[in-house]
Amino acid sequence: MNHTSHFTPHTSPVPVIAIDGPSASGKGTVAALVAKELGFHYLDSGAIYRVTALAAMRAGISLDDEDALAQLASHLDVRFEHGEIWLNGEKVGDDVRSEASGNAASRIAALPRLRQALLEFQRGFLKTPGLVADGRDMGSVVFPDATLKIFLTASAEVRAERRYKQLMEKGMHANLSQILQDLQQRDARDSARSVAPLQKFADAYLLETSSLNIAEAVTEILALYREYIRQAS
Ligand code: DC
Repeated sequence: MNHTSHFTPHTSPVPVIAIDGPSASGKGTVAALVAKELGFHYLDSGAIYRVTALAAMRAGISLDDEDALAQLASHLDVRFEHGEIWLNGEKVGDDVRSEASGNAASRIAALPRLRQALLEFQRGFLKTPGLVADGRDMGSVVFPDATLKIFLTASAEVRAERRYKQLMEKGMHANLSQILQDLQQRDARDSARSVAPLQKFADAYLLETSSLNIAEAVTEILALYREYIRQAS
């Protein structure tokens, strides 16, 4: 198979693998494993939107107040360390991963000035020897020169099942049809917004994972990246 078209001809000097796709597609798990395998840094950009939303809710800022949110985002005291997230010196991992933060993140993510305020923070994660970045606009806006761009998705039903199983395993209450409805709503909002919408661009490789497990998706991305290295050398 020839995957050459998914490699950017003028790539950034430090390699970037951009993995975009909808909620609950498994892209976070896949991206973290690809990063680990290659010894690259990992950026979970969704967590940045989520922690910003959490900070806004805690500060009593309305999720529609674009100026106040952009101001908040440009002064965020956030650290990502050893898989933990710190906001104002406090560990906030569980709150950040909650459905409430995810929904609030999806709302504020539609605001252009807020997205602009988070741009440089996200780009700051790009360091040698390389970066795997996951989100919605990694390959289109944040790292347009990414070495390899992947659009990782699965059907809404499969994604809802995955999220349902995850919640059940954590011993949390979950309702499959409610999860499916929330996912479809979130997809619609993330895809319909005018700025950096969720969409598969022509230069991204489509990885449909409805019938792939995590290990198979990781293997495929590593094979694509190694093919790039082989062709580039
Ligand atoms: O990937 P996630 O579910 O943790 O992301 C939470 C929300 O943040 C998602 O609904 C849309 C938004 N988001 C975004 O707009 N751009 C990104 N690069 C990452 C996330």
